[in-house]
Amino acid sequence: MKADKPDELQEIALREVDRLDALVEEFLDAARPPRLDLLQVDLVDLVREVVRSFGTDPRYRGRVEVELEGEASLGLVSLDAGRVRQVLWNLLLNAAQHMPESGMIVITASRRVGTAELQIRDTGVGIPAEHLGRIFDPFFSTRSGGTGLGLANVERIVRAHGGSIAVYSKPGQGTAFLLSFPTGDGPARPVDSERTASRDSQHLEVLEVDG
Ligand SMILES: Nc1ncnc2c1ncn2[C@@H]1O[C@H](COP(=O)(O)OP(=O)(O)O)[C@@H](O)[C@H]1O
Ligand SMILES: [Mg+2]
Repeated sequence: MKADKPDELQEIALREVDRLDALVEEFLDAARPPRLDLLQVDLVDLVREVVRSFGTDPRYRGRVEVELEGEASLGLVSLDAGRVRQVLWNLLLNAAQHMPESGMIVITASRRVGTAELQIRDTGVGIPAEHLGRIFDPFFSTRSGGTGLGLANVERIVRAHGGSIAVYSKPGQGTAFLLSFPTGDGPARPVDSERTASRDSQHLEVLEVDG
């Protein structure tokens, strides 16, 4: 990149500082055990907030469409709102970063006894079967400039809430992450790894986006 004006240089320097800041933050997050600051929150409200700010991000505006489906409320659940926003943001960002040109992200909220579930599915490039078992590992990344800490953090935060996360993917078609949080009104139902099925592509109908 050529930058000959001091203004431009300063702008680049500031952007880099921003980027490094985010990087250091990710490393620190990965090293610290997450201490949760719990509040009674509706997961769908958090989703709406994150989707709203994601929609204003100039990198993805007009290129990535985000839709929210399912329940309008998942009731009040004991959550660390900041951390869960971070989880959702990371999943949206990953989805957008793994889309060739334009595409869609659909978030579906559903409720069962004991469990609040969110499915976040994208129409991106998908994840090859041989990578599926590694994407939650710290430092596993296929993205240029990636840290490989995004999903490791996502998993730690979800687990710290007593929740669980599963992934389904079909290369060329897309990826879906399923998050489950205990609601305290019955036995929590973790998303089971049978359903996380890279290993078993029959389970991937879940990815078929209508239309
Ligand atoms: N929605 C997605 N679609 C396709 N691949 C994904 C998606 N989310 C994550 N991945 C894969 O998982 C890897 C790890 O993701 P992450 O931990 O967020 O690290 P990073 O984004 O820094 O690469 C990515 O590099 C990519 O290979
Ligand atoms: Mg990431």
